[in-house]
Amino acid sequence: MKKIIKNIVKILLLIIVIVSISVGGGLLYLKANLLDFDKNFDTNQYEIIELNINGYKFLDRNGNKQLDIYEDDRKPIELRVSDLLSKLTKEEKVRMLKGSGMSSGIGMSPHGIPGAVGTIVSTSRLGIPEIYLSDGPAGLRILSTRENDKKKYYCTAFPIATLLASSWDKDLVQNVGFAMGNEALSYGIDVILGPGVNIHRHPLCGRNFEYYSEDPFLTGHIGAAMINGIESNGVGTSPKHFVANNQETSRNINDAIVSERAFREIYLKGFEIIVKKSQPWTIMTSYNKINGTYAPENKRLLTDVLKNEWGFDGVVMTDWFGGKSATAIINAGNDLIEPGTKNSWNELKKSAEDGSLPLINIDASVKRILELIFKSRKMQNYKYDDNPDLKNHAIISGKAAAEGMILLKNNETLPMNNLVNIALIGATSYDFISGGTGSGDVDEAYTVALDQALKDKGFILNKIALNHYEKKIQNNPNKKQKGGGAIETAMTIMNPPIPMDLEYPIELIEKTSKTADIAIVTIGRNSGETADRKVEGDFLLSKTEKEMILSTCKVYHSLGKKVVVILNIGGVIETASWKDLPDAILLAWQGGQEGGNSVVDILTGKINPSGKLPMTFPNDINDHKSSLNFPMDGEQLNLSDVISGLISEEKAEEEKIKNKDYTLYKEGIYVGYRHFDKNNIEVSYPFGYGLSYTDFEYSDLKIIKKTDTIMMSLNVKNIGNQKGKEIVQVYVSKNNSKIDRPLKELKEFSKTKLLDLGETIKMNFNIPIYDLSYWNEEFNDWSLEKGDYSILIGASSRDIKLNQEIDIK
Ligand code: BGC
Repeated sequence: MKKIIKNIVKILLLIIVIVSISVGGGLLYLKANLLDFDKNFDTNQYEIIELNINGYKFLDRNGNKQLDIYEDDRKPIELRVSDLLSKLTKEEKVRMLKGSGMSSGIGMSPHGIPGAVGTIVSTSRLGIPEIYLSDGPAGLRILSTRENDKKKYYCTAFPIATLLASSWDKDLVQNVGFAMGNEALSYGIDVILGPGVNIHRHPLCGRNFEYYSEDPFLTGHIGAAMINGIESNGVGTSPKHFVANNQETSRNINDAIVSERAFREIYLKGFEIIVKKSQPWTIMTSYNKINGTYAPENKRLLTDVLKNEWGFDGVVMTDWFGGKSATAIINAGNDLIEPGTKNSWNELKKSAEDGSLPLINIDASVKRILELIFKSRKMQNYKYDDNPDLKNHAIISGKAAAEGMILLKNNETLPMNNLVNIALIGATSYDFISGGTGSGDVDEAYTVALDQALKDKGFILNKIALNHYEKKIQNNPNKKQKGGGAIETAMTIMNPPIPMDLEYPIELIEKTSKTADIAIVTIGRNSGETADRKVEGDFLLSKTEKEMILSTCKVYHSLGKKVVVILNIGGVIETASWKDLPDAILLAWQGGQEGGNSVVDILTGKINPSGKLPMTFPNDINDHKSSLNFPMDGEQLNLSDVISGLISEEKAEEEKIKNKDYTLYKEGIYVGYRHFDKNNIEVSYPFGYGLSYTDFEYSDLKIIKKTDTIMMSLNVKNIGNQKGKEIVQVYVSKNNSKIDRPLKELKEFSKTKLLDLGETIKMNFNIPIYDLSYWNEEFNDWSLEKGDYSILIGASSRDIKLNQEIDIK
């Protein structure tokens, strides 16, 4: 009996061993195949003899490796994808349509990369790895700390998107993108959830800092450069949010009511340029509805326009918890639901069974997802080392910041020479803001503030001003912009910090002026996801800030000393009422972790400022036509609106609240300078404006018209006494147009190299004639007007240097 039992046990053990070898060993072997196989291995020479229990073949007669088509990286991706598609079960395919949830995003997942917010699920049976998705526009956003791990996983805080666009320098932005993508590669992240490319429809949108410009041409070309830079690492991007996500107030339910023309010419245009110039791996849809349909459920936009008309061949993914019906989302052509919830899984499974989610749609989306997986470095056995070149990336970040800062005013004050004692006024001087909050934030190792940067360059900080700040901060430790920790950073999503309003009694300023040679006043602003900005105390300077500028100017000017204002802000503020007071104004934006150093490089003249405005600074917020239809009260997003499933039930028409439940884009195409120019409205600083320490002369415009292209050249000469770079802008205007059109529109731009004193450079531009067309709502297509056009070469939208007419037949 004992013997029989022993034998049964032996047989059972043998079965277990055989099964585990064939399942586990098979999987391990397959995984090894996918992640580590010999590139010179020719599968065609091998004959398949063995099927393991999963139906996959591993060995030839001699026990050598045997690959399936999809495993063979010498085969074209389409072939590998169709092979794999034929091997996936329907359930496995449906699984791929949604991510694996949010757990890794808040660092709670036992596997994964803490801080990564989403995934494309793995199919381990076939050795298909998990793909990681992580924010965001100003640098990679993962957590710097991990449980039971002393190592810090910091990322570089690059300058905010608005600053990068202010450089008008595609090569520079591509370099920043390369560094950012390289960081993602080092940390094992496969897709960066950025750049943000929504249009600055209104200055108060809380996420404008994540976006580039009020102009779609600038947005599209800067965005494409960023994407090309990131993706050259074999890391994907996700330009977002497609489309018309121009306010944070009620963003999850807001219905953007937009004309087709405004869509085509303004809101879609940037995305269209991006798709054509950089074919990103993915695109993220927005939360809002568009003319009644949630963006991720909008088949016309996703399938007809984005995929069929523009030829986008990547993956469309939802914003986090965006959209309502998982079935409608996939059927519309939104291929991937992020981060994925149990509800979406249950719904997809059911609709795949009952046919309301047809297999043809499932296959179409899975095919795109598989193509992404095959393109990823993860499929190519890339071994990430968690060791990005943070030192070098900090240098790139600092250089980029200096290139995008904009000199708004300079009365023979800057660069400042031989000044040693500086009174730094304003809390943000000592607590510089590197970037905005929310998913556009970065968990960086440090931020160089202005005080630190000045000290490092040998300047003496005025003690009285310094003590005033330090005393206040001691009593108010929580007023610091960022605690630094990633959890704190995450918390700011729902509660962005407001820069401290530090009071400066005039007696105190007088005391500082006794020893200081110059005063630098910093105005700080911060905003981020989930709330729009307000007019009072945000767009407008607070009473304390106004008094701070006023009294500093009064005291310092009475002694013949200068005052410089630094704007450490993420979005447009009011400048018209106070800009006459200081001697110089530098718009430093939020310059990433090296921001303070970049400001000092400009103040001292080490770098000659060359940034120009990617949007208009109006005299009055209400001068923007969109102010009539924008939520001006900066209301914080309702948490229950953020997560799908909790989206409030549809309201009856009469209950709907303007600018929350819906927003009428009544200004149509008249956004930014298109509106200010058309209506001849004075502005504080126009689109494209920015000063330099030198001057440039424009000459010799030559235009040749070819069948499809307008080719032009002109000369730019440095006629001042500092080396410098100039941003040349090409606008086109239709003369005597029969239709309602903007007075002029940006159609080309370029930044010169650093020009020596007296140096001239020839700039060449080509504009496809097709780009002069407008969206004709009657024909529902682009139309080109015949007749005279003016080519306007400008140093800004309101400083046209050269002008020539051409005739389009
Ligand atoms: C934001 C996206 C972001 C996503 C993941 C959303 O709340 O709107 O821009 O990529 O979260 O963090």
